Amino acid sequence: MAETTARLLDRLPSWFGVPEANAEYVESATRLPGLVARSDTEPIGVLLYRRHFAEAAEIHLMAVAPSWHRRGVGRELIRTITQDLSIDGCRLLQVKTLGATHPDPGYAGTRAFYQSMGFLPLEETGALWPGNPCLIMVKWLPRPS
Ligand SMILES: CC(C)(COP(=O)(O)OP(=O)(O)OC[C@H]1O[C@@H](n2cnc3c(N)ncnc32)[C@H](O)[C@@H]1OP(=O)(O)O)[C@@H](O)C(=O)NCCC(=O)NCCS
Repeated sequence: MAETTARLLDRLPSWFGVPEANAEYVESATRLPGLVARSDTEPIGVLLYRRHFAEAAEIHLMAVAPSWHRRGVGRELIRTITQDLSIDGCRLLQVKTLGATHPDPGYAGTRAFYQSMGFLPLEETGALWPGNPCLIMVKWLPRPS
């Protein structure tokens, strides 16, 4: 998972352009649970998550290879993780991303993605990432029927 994460981050410099932050993501891929999306055998997407409590989890990282954007890979990763977590008793899934008070157009697409996956904006704060607004989004995971 770490090698896949490193390769995908390298292909997304507009979102992941800080080498120290990328190194932390790659290190986190050695210990956090996650999913890899593949086309045949080629890894094309990754999702890492953290389980803070039995009821609450957080998406730590999502990255889909640029040539696969808008082809349903992210949707499938979210569908799978929400189903798995929901079956395991988890009820809330959060994600932190760059807030709308930052003008970056790439992250506007990222927020639109999470919104279309059912995440709601909970809070934008300047307290977590020095110099950058952090938007906390949250999604309710219903009990499986
Ligand atoms: C965000 C990301 C994971 C989404 O993955 P994806 O495979 O491209 O997304 P999907 O094709 O599954 O999109 C599902 C829906 O989300 C919405 N969406 C996705 N990207 C969007 C964009 N750029 N602008 C507007 N809406 C978007 C659409 O409603 C889309 O459905 P549609 O294509 O039928 O209209 C991917 O674009 C990515 O890796 N971005 C760079 C890294 C990043 O932002 N990571 C998250 C950091 S917090």
